[in-house]
Amino acid sequence: MTEPIRILMCAPDHYDVDYVINPWMEGNIHKSSRNKAVEQWSKLNFVLNDIAKVDLVQAQKGVPDMVFTANAGLVLGENAVLSRFYHPERQGEEPYFKQWFEDNGFNVFELPQDLPFEGAGDALLDREGRWLWAGYGFRSELDSHPYLAKWLDIEVLSLRLIDDRFYHLDTCFCPLSGGYLLYYPGAFDSYSNHIIEGRVPAEKRIAIAEADAINFACNSVNVGQSVVMNKASDSLKQRLADVGFKVIETPLTEFLKAGGAAKCLTLRINEPVLPDVHASTPVESRVLHMEGHLLDAGIMNRSLDLVVDNGGSFKVLNFNLGVERQSTSSAEVRVSAPDHEVMEKS
Ligand code: ARG
Repeated sequence: MTEPIRILMCAPDHYDVDYVINPWMEGNIHKSSRNKAVEQWSKLNFVLNDIAKVDLVQAQKGVPDMVFTANAGLVLGENAVLSRFYHPERQGEEPYFKQWFEDNGFNVFELPQDLPFEGAGDALLDREGRWLWAGYGFRSELDSHPYLAKWLDIEVLSLRLIDDRFYHLDTCFCPLSGGYLLYYPGAFDSYSNHIIEGRVPAEKRIAIAEADAINFACNSVNVGQSVVMNKASDSLKQRLADVGFKVIETPLTEFLKAGGAAKCLTLRINEPVLPDVHASTPVESRVLHMEGHLLDAGIMNRSLDLVVDNGGSFKVLNFNLGVERQSTSSAEVRVSAPDHEVMEKS
């Protein structure tokens, strides 16, 4: 018999909306009901226990978003890449998740200090195990992707998120069994849509409309043919049924107030490793030397904006400021692009 799917959850003992780090949290500070959250979380836990085995990590005071275990890290086989949260509000969760991974026998990989990556919230395995889809643009940095490829020995495909309501990849993208994909194309730039279309054949792409996307339909937990989510329209349920999936709805409105739903509340902790899958990442980096009136002529700003607008990312390695009005400045900037084509274009 194959091992049951194992999922990590964290009870909402200390859950609340205490701060605003995504658009869903705006106007919702202290507006969620703890009792209702506990009831909704328990239902999800019950539904999942039926189709998988759920483990728990102890909730901690002062880190209300710890319920969203998808952001603990990313697991593949025995390896876990620990998250480095972008927002200081969530950084306090890191030691608790690290401890849990270590106590449970994972090899824990830690990214450099200033390189954010928010775990399985931004990195989703193709359900056939062929590659890893990794998101960037809001929380995780593109430069974290080559580390994932190296440490987990898997091909990483970088997708750029452009709509701040869908700030984590798992809010708008859900690989399903059999190579199917449930996703909201509007959350991605055109180049990323092109990559998705290149990998997933049209008959396996289930592109959803905005109305379902804002109910977090893509934030689903897929186990076999079951797809567990907050809510789906009748037409989406029908489309999924047509290709053999059964939707299990379980309301998670209290968690939507913090910008999360079913998938965010879970982390898969036994992801099988395919023997013939190996590392590769198309992310390309180059170091550029810049010289001139970089600040006063606005060159620095404009060039860095250009890099980001084209789907790239940068790190200023050093900057020598010319102090006199007539003196020039020089800088070294490492620029990264999701692949060679984008690097050449920019
Ligand atoms: N309030 C949390 C945050 O903004 C919600 C996280 C949702 N998690 C997820 N995997 N999408 O970080």
